[in-house]
Amino acid sequence: MSALEEAPVAETRTPLMTLDGVSQVFDTKAGPIRAVDGINLSVNPGEVLCLVGESGSGKTTAARMAAGLARPTSGRVAFDGTDIWSMKRNDFGAFRRSVQYVHQDPYASLNPTRTIQQTITAPLLKHGVVKGSKAAAEKAVELLTKVDLTPAENFLPKYPHQLSGGQRQRVAVARALTLDPKLIIADESTSMLDVSIRISVLAMLGRLRDDLGVGFLFITHDLAIAKYFGWNGKTAVMYLGRIVEFGPTPKIINAPTHPYTRALIDAIPEPDPDLTKTKGRETLRSLEIPSLAHLPGGCSFHPRCPQFEDGLCDGVVPELVEVRSGQSAACHVVARDGAGEVRPDEPVA
Ligand SMILES: Nc1ncnc2c1ncn2[C@@H]1O[C@H](COP(=O)(O)OP(=O)(O)OP(=O)(O)O)[C@@H](O)[C@H]1O
Ligand SMILES: [Mg+2]
Repeated sequence: MSALEEAPVAETRTPLMTLDGVSQVFDTKAGPIRAVDGINLSVNPGEVLCLVGESGSGKTTAARMAAGLARPTSGRVAFDGTDIWSMKRNDFGAFRRSVQYVHQDPYASLNPTRTIQQTITAPLLKHGVVKGSKAAAEKAVELLTKVDLTPAENFLPKYPHQLSGGQRQRVAVARALTLDPKLIIADESTSMLDVSIRISVLAMLGRLRDDLGVGFLFITHDLAIAKYFGWNGKTAVMYLGRIVEFGPTPKIINAPTHPYTRALIDAIPEPDPDLTKTKGRETLRSLEIPSLAHLPGGCSFHPRCPQFEDGLCDGVVPELVEVRSGQSAACHVVARDGAGEVRPDEPVA
């Protein structure tokens, strides 16, 4: 094959992480619930994928399966093209080190009896990233500096309770960087922080995203934050365990097609001039989120949906289908009527 005939690299590269028809069923007192129901997602190396949805939509359950912390009830989770649950022990260990999870609450995830130095150096020494405590301390200083905890030496002897919430979250991010991950799963990592601190932690994460070329699965209930962090990436919107809309983030924000995505944009409290034209279109028929144990038939959003059509929406579950180039939605009405291409004057990247 000549050089001209070679396929473009972007189309042939293996995604870093793939979730293929992945489900998680929990047995609860109310009966089995499908917290995640047959989702397909992939993150390419260095790419940002935002997972957005209300509380209980299944974001954390999906993320835990992506991180190998929970085994799917069905479906396949692959890392660098290999099914993680068929990996040999050593390969699974390497996968677990390549995918780092940053939790919502750093206070719960940091060991209160360990100093920051111990927290950062333990994985470095355990996995042989550096040899000896002096080299480990130097690396810890480098990592703390990367997350803007400066002068880093001052933070090394401190315990988590001596830090602010934002500083603790920075330590959690520094710890996630110790093993040079390929993918960071940030699960509502800034939602417990005050607004001004949230913005500075987000800015720090954005810098790491750009400097390190690491992939992100970025989870938030707030589309405004997905817009900020994942503008150059993709966004998947989840509702009651399923992906209802997926596409490049600018299209999801500026030209959402699914009534649920539009409702989420309506719920953004901040005045954002970019969002005003997408706002104000939808009034939900109900604010109540149905229980996963008693999901409505057909489209599970239909009892709340302003575009509900009797006989169309309450029959079968809508498939996620492409409704305009690169953008897909799981909505019978949009699939029937079409979404049209985005107007050229719309500021979509
Ligand atoms: N271990 C479990 N056993 C039973 N049910 C569970 C378990 N973990 C999660 N669930 C249920 O699964 C559903 C999805 O939960 P999940 O935590 O994934 O949602 P989420 O989108 O992360 O929500 P939040 O925004 O509140 O973090 C919820 O109804 C939750 O109660
Ligand atoms: Mg969660």
